Amino acid sequence: RWTEVPLAPPDAIFQLTAAFKADTHPNKVNLGVGAYRDDNSKPWVLPVVKKATEILVNDPALDHEYLPITGLPEYTSAAARLVFGSDSPVITEERVTSVQTISGTGANHLGALFLSRFYHWNDKRVFVSDPTWVNHHQIFPLVDIPVSTYPYYDPQTIGLAFPAFLDTLKKATPRSVFLLHACAHNPTGVDPTREQWGEIADVMLEKGHFAFFDSAYQGFASGDLDNDAWAVREFVRRNVPLLVCQSFAKNAGLYGERVGALHVVSPSKEAAVRIKSQLSVLARSEISNPPAHGARLVSLILNTPELFEQWKRDVKTMSGRIIEMRKELHRLLTEELKTPGNWDHIVNQIGMFSFTGISPAQSKALVETAHIYLTSNGRISMAGLNKHNIRYFAESLDKAVRG
Ligand code: LMR
Repeated sequence: RWTEVPLAPPDAIFQLTAAFKADTHPNKVNLGVGAYRDDNSKPWVLPVVKKATEILVNDPALDHEYLPITGLPEYTSAAARLVFGSDSPVITEERVTSVQTISGTGANHLGALFLSRFYHWNDKRVFVSDPTWVNHHQIFPLVDIPVSTYPYYDPQTIGLAFPAFLDTLKKATPRSVFLLHACAHNPTGVDPTREQWGEIADVMLEKGHFAFFDSAYQGFASGDLDNDAWAVREFVRRNVPLLVCQSFAKNAGLYGERVGALHVVSPSKEAAVRIKSQLSVLARSEISNPPAHGARLVSLILNTPELFEQWKRDVKTMSGRIIEMRKELHRLLTEELKTPGNWDHIVNQIGMFSFTGISPAQSKALVETAHIYLTSNGRISMAGLNKHNIRYFAESLDKAVRG
């Protein structure tokens, strides 16, 4: 029985978390999964989340009824305002359909499923950046959308392969779907400049391409929620057809609550209503209705002015600490250790991750000899570094680079 079921490989990222937990070495460091840690390597419950939880659990009217199929309305509408801006025409003209999802993964899945069924494909495939978040390679094929890649990362410059990226946009069949990271690109930490975003939008408009935005790090890149939504808002301003997958796992530290949203922008309010009806059918058959707790917390945070201000401070605390770690790592490598090579990308990259540029063999050596856990592509989660372990990491990296 079940002899035909092959053994699947473990997930590249969560396997690292399990290996890290099982490791008893006193200096072990987890730079694998993209989850924020404080200066003592501990998960950080945002002060604003503590306050919102307090309010929620003391609410005598709290019950455990089903949410509507498309989610908590005051959550989805506030989430849409957060990403598009409250004065955005898609909000004021009611042209966005927002549905609560099982975090960013669920948003990607529901968005992909919707496109798979209803998009007017010339060539059914999604273009994702090379590289991208590993899970993108699984989510789309699951709903029968093959994945192709567009050049993104240039190992020569440890930066953006912009001309090759633009070339792929230009050569793709009209009305192709391109997955774009709204900010803080995972895994490289390399984002296009505003000027480059403008050029990307120009070609996408010209070719009628569709932008599938994955926005998992709003606030994490620059510490400013509006600034990190710039690319999405610029694409809206230029009328590039798009949807946005949104997650509150990272920026609200609500990893386990699975609180996210899918926002599909339409040319008219009437189309938005029809899209909502179809998303409801899809959501009903998959999850029936989404989980309430995380959505209630985020709704309280987004809809209560004092909590919203506190959240902005908390987001700055996280992004600020990460930026400090970037500066310190750069200083250690370039000034103290004089590690061979150019390390400016450490401070130029943005968000949760840094692509160190080291080889799979060097990454493996760090895991095996130094007990420093990172993905084999050389990505490190900057949030795993802190005052206590950064020197150990820099020295170990230095050794790995020198061979
Ligand atoms: C990551 O890339 O480490 C995170 O987005 C966690 C995940 O789900 O893979």
